[in-house]
Amino acid sequence: MHATSRPVALVTGASSGLGREFVLQLARTGHDLVLVARDADRLESLADELRNKHGSVVEVMAADLAVDADVTRLVARIDRSPIDLLVNNAGFGTRGSIARTSRDGQEAMLRVHVLAAHRLAQAAVQGMVGRGSGAIIMVSSIASFLTSPGNVNYAATKAWQRLYIESLSLELAGKGVYAQALCPGYTHTDFHQRGGMDKTRVPGWWWMTADRVVADSLRAVRRRRPVVVIPGLGYRLAALALRFMPRWAWHLVIRSRR
Ligand SMILES: NC(=O)c1ccc[n+]([C@@H]2O[C@H](COP(=O)([O-])OP(=O)(O)OC[C@H]3O[C@@H](n4cnc5c(N)ncnc54)[C@H](OP(=O)(O)O)[C@@H]3O)[C@@H](O)[C@H]2O)c1
Repeated sequence: MHATSRPVALVTGASSGLGREFVLQLARTGHDLVLVARDADRLESLADELRNKHGSVVEVMAADLAVDADVTRLVARIDRSPIDLLVNNAGFGTRGSIARTSRDGQEAMLRVHVLAAHRLAQAAVQGMVGRGSGAIIMVSSIASFLTSPGNVNYAATKAWQRLYIESLSLELAGKGVYAQALCPGYTHTDFHQRGGMDKTRVPGWWWMTADRVVADSLRAVRRRRPVVVIPGLGYRLAALALRFMPRWAWHLVIRSRR
């Protein structure tokens, strides 16, 4: 069992980018942490930093969320000892059409963004509902509002994540558990470099910082609303337009750019 009375947050994708920023901000506000990602060395050095700076109790669980046995280990951890906050953040982008990209990469995306995200969320929800408290953040994307050739599974899995949370939050009404779909736009992290994307093609004013995105998300956790968090006014307006724009009009925009 966890030894302190501080709230415990489990963060996936904690080794880099938004996940690492969640960990830093949560440690500053008195959380103990369970850090999950594949890169054990980066997790261990982050854990040391948190122990030294904040006196946090930190568990490191190196895991590949595309591997069933690793996800089963994490589910067992959640079942064994309560967590107060789950941040389902791990994710990645791929580039290229379904006809040309590797089958393995596409399947791994479905495993990480959908299957692992659901298995961890269900385990967390079952414990939290029993205790009548807790919160879940699913890091979706502004891409969840788009159809996106060249990013077919990315847009589809991010839409799945947002809709999952929108439905789940209805199930959780009155049960003391808050669910959030965080839908960031372009944010400076390792994401684009890892996915082989050219950041210079996106104008500077579209970019956000990870600390701002995470601060918006955690403010919503404290207030227990809204369910869909879209950092940045420009992105909130874009999401509004995309929600109401007929699909055929959006598809004309896409075709004109190809
Ligand atoms: N940056 C953006 O512009 C942006 C915009 C919208 C949404 N998002 C979403 O934000 C989330 C975080 O991405 P980021 O921008 O922070 O990118 P990042 O810096 O590349 O971080 C991604 C994290 O996910 C982990 N990860 C990837 N595959 C994994 C796997 N199979 N098993 C376990 N962990 C895995 C990585 O850790 P290891 O490599 O150590 O495993 C890393 O910690 C993603 O879900 C992404 O879709 C990002």
